[in-house]
Amino acid sequence: MIARGPGRVNLIGEHTDYNGGLALPFAIDRGVTVEAEPLNGDGFEVEALDFSEADAFSLAAPGPAEGWRAFVRGTVAELTAAGFELAPARIRFWGDVPQGSGLSSSAALESALCLALLSVAGLPEPDRTELARLCSRVENDWVGAQTGLLDQLASLHGREGHALRIDFATLALEPVALDLRDWALVTVESGASHSHAGSGYNDRRAECSAAADALGVEQLSAASAEAAERLEDPLRRRARHVLSENARVDATVAALAKGDLAAVGRLLDASHASLRDDFEASVEEVEAVVARLKAGGAAGARMMGGGFGGAVLALLPPGSAAPAGAVGVAPGLPARLL
Ligand code: GLA
Repeated sequence: MIARGPGRVNLIGEHTDYNGGLALPFAIDRGVTVEAEPLNGDGFEVEALDFSEADAFSLAAPGPAEGWRAFVRGTVAELTAAGFELAPARIRFWGDVPQGSGLSSSAALESALCLALLSVAGLPEPDRTELARLCSRVENDWVGAQTGLLDQLASLHGREGHALRIDFATLALEPVALDLRDWALVTVESGASHSHAGSGYNDRRAECSAAADALGVEQLSAASAEAAERLEDPLRRRARHVLSENARVDATVAALAKGDLAAVGRLLDASHASLRDDFEASVEEVEAVVARLKAGGAAGARMMGGGFGGAVLALLPPGSAAPAGAVGVAPGLPARLL
């Protein structure tokens, strides 16, 4: 069995998923491929080809681990806990989505692993939103990153040629045509790698939850902007980012419907300013890349994903040359068996 899980680009809507807000991601063609075949015995043998590393563990008790092993063991354990009777397997995986870059190599791995493990056990594929929740438990409980559902939903529900407007309050998904005409979306690595478990990501998440508590709402996106402005700093600015970012997602959907890509560029810039100043999730290396892209004529450029490093997303107007190291990105297929 061979499964492919895509990474994702988030056009806009950052740090909104765990706040019951809005985002507009799409699956990309870069991702992770997982190969699985039945194995005699009672466990799993796993090879991570990109690291030249291996792991072996039992189906009954995968046990905790670090790094990529935590993703594989966690996926096996969470599928088992959810009632799927997995079969022992030999697994090999490799990928072409850079790690620590904000393009969700982790969701790519999780979604491909789920499809490969289910398929090798002869099990039908469950509801993909349920699978996304399961993958998110792997991140939260096995990897130690308190991430939301953005990456997993994008990887599992992506649609070619479309971004997905996700409302995290209801998990309603709405495909939004992403017609760039002769404009281009590119990502550029900042050179600063990040891991959600080790960066300021979990701190920001805790601050958002403290802001929601102070405002008496279950999730920050349900708060009013006026009430949020009465919070103490830094919670005030964290809330301001989340609420303004939600509004920018719908402004982007509206701009795309009108084909107004220049407006999309301005919204990307505004998102970046908010992530940098109000959410304080940027780092020097990312700022340098954003500045370089803007000086080179990008209509908009912003940090992407969890922040504190990783890739920058830029929208380039027609005729502008892609800077060195830029990789074009377009909405591709969701996770699938090959
Ligand atoms: C990471 C997380 C997501 C989301 C983004 C920020 O990619 O995995 O759940 O919170 O950061 O928007």
